[in-house]
Amino acid sequence: MTTATSTTARKPMLPLSLLLLLLPALTFAQTRQELSLNSVAFFNTIPNPPSFVIPGQGVPLTITVALCSGSSSQPMPRFIVTNSTNNAIEDDPTSTTGGPDVFEIGLDDGLGTWTGEFPSGGVLAVEENGAQMTFEIGVSNDGPIHEHITSLPLLGDTTSNQALIFSHPFESFDRPKPSYPNYTLPVANQTLPSPTGNTPNFTLILSPTSNNLAARHQTGCFLSSQPKEGNITSETIWLKDQQGWRDQWLMGGLTPATNYTAYVLQDTNKVSGPIFFATKSASFSCPLVHSLPYCPGISYPIPLPAPPSAAPSYTTLNLPQNITDPLLSYLTNFTTTLTTFACGRDWYSPLVGCDDCQIAYRTWLCSITFTRCSEPSPSNPNAFTTGTVEPTATGLSALGPSKKHPDQKVFSALVPQDTARPEARRSPTLPPPSYAYDMLLPCIETCTAMDRACPAFLGIKCPTAQFNAAASYGVGYVDSADGDQGGGVTGNAADQWGNVWCNPG
Ligand SMILES: *[C@@H]1O[C@H](CO)[C@@H](O)[C@H](O)[C@H]1NC(C)=O
Ligand SMILES: *[C@@H]1O[C@H](CO)[C@@H](O)[C@H](O)[C@H]1NC(C)=O
Ligand SMILES: *[C@@H]1O[C@H](CO)[C@@H](O)[C@H](O)[C@H]1NC(C)=O
Ligand SMILES: *[C@@H]1O[C@H](CO)[C@@H](O)[C@H](O)[C@H]1NC(C)=O
Ligand SMILES: *[C@@H]1O[C@H](CO)[C@@H](O)[C@H](O)[C@H]1NC(C)=O
Ligand SMILES: *[C@@H]1O[C@H](CO)[C@@H](O)[C@H](O)[C@H]1NC(C)=O
Ligand SMILES: *[C@@H]1O[C@H](CO)[C@@H](O)[C@H](O)[C@H]1NC(C)=O
Ligand SMILES: *[C@@H]1O[C@H](CO)[C@@H](O)[C@H](O)[C@H]1NC(C)=O
Repeated sequence: MTTATSTTARKPMLPLSLLLLLLPALTFAQTRQELSLNSVAFFNTIPNPPSFVIPGQGVPLTITVALCSGSSSQPMPRFIVTNSTNNAIEDDPTSTTGGPDVFEIGLDDGLGTWTGEFPSGGVLAVEENGAQMTFEIGVSNDGPIHEHITSLPLLGDTTSNQALIFSHPFESFDRPKPSYPNYTLPVANQTLPSPTGNTPNFTLILSPTSNNLAARHQTGCFLSSQPKEGNITSETIWLKDQQGWRDQWLMGGLTPATNYTAYVLQDTNKVSGPIFFATKSASFSCPLVHSLPYCPGISYPIPLPAPPSAAPSYTTLNLPQNITDPLLSYLTNFTTTLTTFACGRDWYSPLVGCDDCQIAYRTWLCSITFTRCSEPSPSNPNAFTTGTVEPTATGLSALGPSKKHPDQKVFSALVPQDTARPEARRSPTLPPPSYAYDMLLPCIETCTAMDRACPAFLGIKCPTAQFNAAASYGVGYVDSADGDQGGGVTGNAADQWGNVWCNPG
């Protein structure tokens, strides 16, 4: 009794300083969650207290936030970070208090990034702002965990229900340079090397463009939660061109004549895209050819009968020998002739060598051998020349908007082909077509690049725009008709919106 009384009596007597120490400790019954380094935390609701501890680090940290639901037309939560050490939850940074070392992480398409020093840790506070959204937070000492990758996926091409799609390049490729006295060029039937590093985990997301994913949050967790279309027929890594290693998907089960939007996610949280493309109409008959080590760039439909044994496409495994044999023979013979030049010892150009010439010839040969089937661009359905072009034709050059015709759309280099004149087919290596189709002409740059890269004694001559180049090549798209590099009407053979103007090989 006496003890109790004395305890009660002593309570108000606690020194003020001790009281001040006890108060925060009581509030701390509600403890903030600590975010762990180099990992992603997912929240389906804003926690209580609505703030997180950021661990102290001797190196700069990158804090990323990604919204996983809702849309940017709704209120969105706000994320406020401070890198000053303040322990009291009452002192959590807010969007209104501001102060030194208090920063708001702005959201752009549902993604926010902030990098700074946290020598003794910090706090990330979330303001609900009337928003009910799920979100992720990443804390990293090794670059952002959530990211919008600037390089885009690449469309190979489509059929009525398939699409061949490549990821952005994930590892560069340095072609080994042969040198004198052992100047050896690769054999025609070469096998591809392997990437040296680890292949990231890639996920392809295909959605009909009518779902309008491009206007929603551009984050991995949001995009992967949306309904997808198509199924993966095959997935391989592929060295399509000098830009480096990419992942390659052959997708099936798509709907004919439909606009699609594609994204590639790298390691779940890094987003590349969108690109847009359209599947061909239901009557489109040409099957896809791809994954040819001797023609690594070829990834489009060609005018052959359907692949044997109901295979989904032609690859090196089922392409008829009477097509590959002449192709490899041309390439072998060309290489033999080329190496009669003292490659690597005498120089025909300060910029290029025999190896560059061989690659340029291969690109040209493959684009000529594998005639490309296509259809008018979706954004430009009337844009192709009707009627078979005569060998002497000079028309078909790219036309862009002009002062006189500001609405002029750019026509693709499409030439209708029928079964009536099999001898007039572009590629004697392919059998006469058994159905009518539209041929997409190779870009003239496949020829001019070879002309530039090869020694003069080979006598390579590309047709010129003044004569009949446009009857057999797409002219004026990439380079201007008089050869100004990149000065053409579109500056490129294709774009991210699904337009393809000529075949770059
Ligand atoms: C907080 O980060 C900013 C930006 O990186 C930096 O200028 C400031 O010195 C940091 N404050 C502390 C206490 O480290
Ligand atoms: C010459 O180079 C090729 C390919 O680079 C290599 O396989 C071969 O071993 C080399 N030969 C000599 C004698 O160094
Ligand atoms: C090309 O090489 C691969 C193996 O490296 C072989 O299986 C294939 O038969 C060759 N193709 C031709 C047409 O020689
Ligand atoms: C890819 O995912 C697998 C399993 O999901 C995982 O074991 C692997 O570490 C991941 N690779 C990379 C490079 O992230
Ligand atoms: C993929 O799509 C095709 C065409 O719709 C269908 O026949 C096939 O069963 C699908 N495969 C899977 C695994 O869903
Ligand atoms: C390649 O050269 C060989 C030998 O000279 C010849 O028999 C063959 O017909 C040539 N190939 C082509 C496609 O011209
Ligand atoms: C596809 O998109 C283009 C515009 O890029 C549009 O003109 C066309 O009507 C769309 N096609 C379909 C089937 O929605
Ligand atoms: C290749 O062989 C197939 C039959 O195996 C034949 O139908 C086709 O016409 C041949 N191609 C050429 C260019 O001779």
